[in-house]
Amino acid sequence: MASRTYSPADPGFGVYVHWPFCLSKCPYCDFNSHVRPHPIDEQRFIAAYRSELAHRAKLAKGRSVASVFFGGGTPSLMKAETMAAILDAIAAHWTMAPNVEVTLEANPTSVEAERFRAFRSAGVNRVSLGVQAMNDADLKALGRLHTAAEAMAAVEIAAKTFDRYSFDLIYARPGQSVAAWRTELEEALRHAKDHLSLYQLTIEPDTMFERLFNAGKLKLPNADLGREFWDVTQEIMGKAGLPAYEISNHASPGAESRHNLIYWRYGEYVGIGPGAHGRILTPKGRRAQATERHPEMWLTVVETDGHALVEDELLSVEEQADEFLLMGLRLAEGIEPTQFQALSGRSLDPGRVASLIADGMVEYTPHGRIRVSAEGFPVLDAVVADLAA
Ligand SMILES: C[S@@+](CC[C@H](N)C(=O)[O-])C[C@H]1O[C@@H](n2cnc3c(N)ncnc32)[C@H](O)[C@@H]1O
Ligand code: SF4
Repeated sequence: MASRTYSPADPGFGVYVHWPFCLSKCPYCDFNSHVRPHPIDEQRFIAAYRSELAHRAKLAKGRSVASVFFGGGTPSLMKAETMAAILDAIAAHWTMAPNVEVTLEANPTSVEAERFRAFRSAGVNRVSLGVQAMNDADLKALGRLHTAAEAMAAVEIAAKTFDRYSFDLIYARPGQSVAAWRTELEEALRHAKDHLSLYQLTIEPDTMFERLFNAGKLKLPNADLGREFWDVTQEIMGKAGLPAYEISNHASPGAESRHNLIYWRYGEYVGIGPGAHGRILTPKGRRAQATERHPEMWLTVVETDGHALVEDELLSVEEQADEFLLMGLRLAEGIEPTQFQALSGRSLDPGRVASLIADGMVEYTPHGRIRVSAEGFPVLDAVVADLAA
């Protein structure tokens, strides 16, 4: 990963809005997304989102919103009016920062692309499109409803409609060769602007892919081949001027997703909607919050109680320190050791740091931050576990 240092930024305050519905369930996906045979009652959802916002606003008064993120599920299936109503409700509770980032996760179908202008009028200023693959056979194998041509047409419309856009690809897919991925990524870069999210396929629990994998019907690259995919990805993106600023996210400097940086820099955010998570700073400490996951249950609970938090607990200093490491070490900029100390009341274990440095897994930046090295990133989980222990 390229070395880059950010200004000593306050990560800011963000609002995450979860829309839990999709047109179909992709076989690899374990996000909180559901398919319904009937139209969704968006007015009912708007009222529930308003209630949850009012509830969270009482716990986090006086913040300035740096970012709003509509995630899913497929929030591009929402009406633009619904987005506008939610953004109005957010603005009624908090100040919106002058350059607030408002991101929408969108599926790249023609139906959704036709509505991009309406989304922009509603206040969206950045879209992130789930392209996933650049050829029809692989899109079909991933259970996607769009073709490659349709996805690229949606990307072109996004480019004309929004100053900021990004798209997602999944690589190391069953049967994919490293050479084919190289060609595919180079093709993707011809359509990209300044941000791409590139995820190595993972087998998630309770998905169709997990069942196929366990039955021996899905062949994935082994660890060595996975490492080759990773190296090619870093090489191509580095050369293109979009190095990784996070393990799966690549951008030219300044084009990073500010919303995701709030999470990774261990900032503060509220989450509304089914299965949304939040981290709020209160005088007693950092609170971890999560809502009811099931969409209709979430609606009913919000309508009864005014919110649907099923988890709302103060984190211990150790839990905060672990989360801080887990999030911050995903970033190319790494972490500030004094911030770890302030959270945990102790220093990082000097012996462990020295041994990870000796193994080439972590390194100090010229500014005294600690970051995972290019060698350490492919085994990030093990490095974090070692440092946090
Ligand atoms: C919430 S999903 C995207 C939303 C949108 N509904 C879509 O599919 O385009 C966020 C991204 O996570 C990635 N993703 C989901 N499941 C994955 C898996 N099992 N392995 C790798 N990437 C995955 C996909 O690239 C996806 O676009
Ligand atoms: S990948 Fe996106 S479209 Fe597919 S089920 Fe998951 S959230 Fe829905």
